[in-house]
Amino acid sequence: MADLVRTGVSLERELLKRFDKVIGRKGYQNRSKAIRDIIRELIVEEDTDENKIVAGTLTMVYDHHRPNLADKLIEAQHHAGSKVLAATHVHLSHDYCLEVVIMKGRSEDLRRLGDQILSLRGVKHGRLVITTTGKNLK
Ligand code: NI
Repeated sequence: MADLVRTGVSLERELLKRFDKVIGRKGYQNRSKAIRDIIRELIVEEDTDENKIVAGTLTMVYDHHRPNLADKLIEAQHHAGSKVLAATHVHLSHDYCLEVVIMKGRSEDLRRLGDQILSLRGVKHGRLVITTTGKNLK
C-alpha cells in the first residue's frame, strides 16, 4: 500500500451518524475507505474539469435495425483513433445491441466523442463514465 497518513476531521455528531448509516447501506466496512472514495471522486471531477488525461467507458444501447447506424458508430470510433482502446458488442435482443467503448484521452475529447455517438439517431440510451486514479495517466 502507498505511504499512509492519518488525519482527523471534526464534524457534527448527527452528520457522522447519517454518514455511517449511508456507507453501511452501501457495504463499506469502515469509514476510511468511504472517505478515500469520496476524496477520489472529487479529484476525478477536478481532473475532468482540467482536461487531463482520463479513462472513460461509453455504454450504449442502440437499435440494430436503424440503417447505417452500425457504420456510423464504427466510423466515429475509427476517427477517434488511439483514444479508443477497445469496444465490446453484445446482441441484446433481436432488435437491440449493447456496446461498451473503452477510451483514454483528454477529458474534453472523450466527452466530445461520447456526445457525438450518443446523439446519433437510433442510439436509445447511453452514458459516458469518466474515471482516473488521481495520478497521472500519461
Ligand atoms: Ni448486435
